[in-house]
Amino acid sequence: MNITMIGTGYVGLVTGTCFAEIGHQVICVDNDVAKVQLLQSGGIPIFEPGLKELVAKNVAAGRLSFSDSIAEGVEKGEAIFIGVSTPPLPDGAVDLSFIEKVAREIAAHMRSYKIIVDKSTVPVKTGDKMVETIKRYCKAHAEFDVVSNPEFLREGSAVADFLKPDRIVIGVRSPRPVPAMKEIYGAISAPIIVTDINSAELIKHASNSFLALKISYINAISAVCEATGANVQEVAAGMGMDERIGRKFLDASLGFGGSCFPKDLSAFIKISEQVGYSFDLLKEVQKINSCQMERFLKKISDTLWVLKDKTIGVLGLAFKQNTDDIRMSPAIALCQRLQKDGAQLRVHDPQAMPKARAVLKDVTFVEEMNDVALGCDALVVATEWEQFKSLDLERVRASLSHPILFDGRNLFDPSEMEKLGFVYKSIGRGQS
Ligand code: UGA
Repeated sequence: MNITMIGTGYVGLVTGTCFAEIGHQVICVDNDVAKVQLLQSGGIPIFEPGLKELVAKNVAAGRLSFSDSIAEGVEKGEAIFIGVSTPPLPDGAVDLSFIEKVAREIAAHMRSYKIIVDKSTVPVKTGDKMVETIKRYCKAHAEFDVVSNPEFLREGSAVADFLKPDRIVIGVRSPRPVPAMKEIYGAISAPIIVTDINSAELIKHASNSFLALKISYINAISAVCEATGANVQEVAAGMGMDERIGRKFLDASLGFGGSCFPKDLSAFIKISEQVGYSFDLLKEVQKINSCQMERFLKKISDTLWVLKDKTIGVLGLAFKQNTDDIRMSPAIALCQRLQKDGAQLRVHDPQAMPKARAVLKDVTFVEEMNDVALGCDALVVATEWEQFKSLDLERVRASLSHPILFDGRNLFDPSEMEKLGFVYKSIGRGQS
């Protein structure tokens, strides 16, 4: 099919490229002219494993192109997907101005039947608003359907997530667009659930909030483990073997971050409030998440006492592994707090250093992970990059002025670390 993808952020670029990969003719549209030029010249604005190669392959095959003209996108696409950002407003509600503008622009250029598919994360009932808006602004009175097709891609594994999803959600107001939507996803082997449009929109907020809840739950368990000498990884393993619970998203950490969970939680709390329900459970999820960072910072200050004039090495700046994204990154928040308390920082991230340079000032960026510890009073692991597990620990210990390691991602074995001579403090594992 001829597909147009509006918005070339993480969601739009991955989705558009993957649609091309499964055989569709795709045009990706963005109003950021510089970004479109970068993409047209073979560049990629983000780091996402496998994406660069897939873009190059599909551009070469003539299935994928980029444009800054929404008119061209509307003319060429039988299905027009919207993947523009829906950022948070100061009160936690969602800023829908980008999506509303795109709806008006599509309406202005529409001359024949189009399927308009929302992939952005939006509050329930956004689809209804889009229908009203498009009707109002479409002078040609063309027929159209609005569909909600939320995405469940994780940054860092987005291409694989697209090609092998757990499910595909299609929310509709009438049966008309369903066969075309099924055809679009025909090459993907996954269950398709067709729902009404409100339910599809809710599935996305309910899923992300539940995953955030799962992380806060295990983080709360980690606090109890620390107080009792139990090991949160063993508790998670034992819980996760129950199929009703599952082991995934039970890794205790510094807390969750990124551009989705914090924003979607606030939005869902706000949406619920607007319809008359006080979602206190989710407020507690937020509270546990910020407490988790405070508890970790307290471990650092309890051990080092005064941070002023201390040098601390920080491994990891991205909000999670396999991405260069630092939006709402717990690692960045941690660095800023340590700096505020007077610590000097030496930091490293395999991908996120270029983006981190814009927000972290007066820190030393170190290119080689094993060099971060040089002359530091302590080392902190803040992001769960797989390569940190292969740190040269002997060298790190020798480089540190004091062999103290705070592990915010439980990457190492406490007894091994002790044998190596480290004072090792991690999350929810005994008294550490
Ligand atoms: C999340 C969802 O997992 C996706 O399904 C969804 O499509 C996406 O949001 C979105 O709405 O666009 P993402 O934010 O890319 O994906 O990353 P996750 O892998 O979910 O991780 C989020 C945060 O939770 C990270 O900071 C990560 O380190 C943390 N985390 C994750 C934990 O602390 N413990 C865990 O067990 C898992």
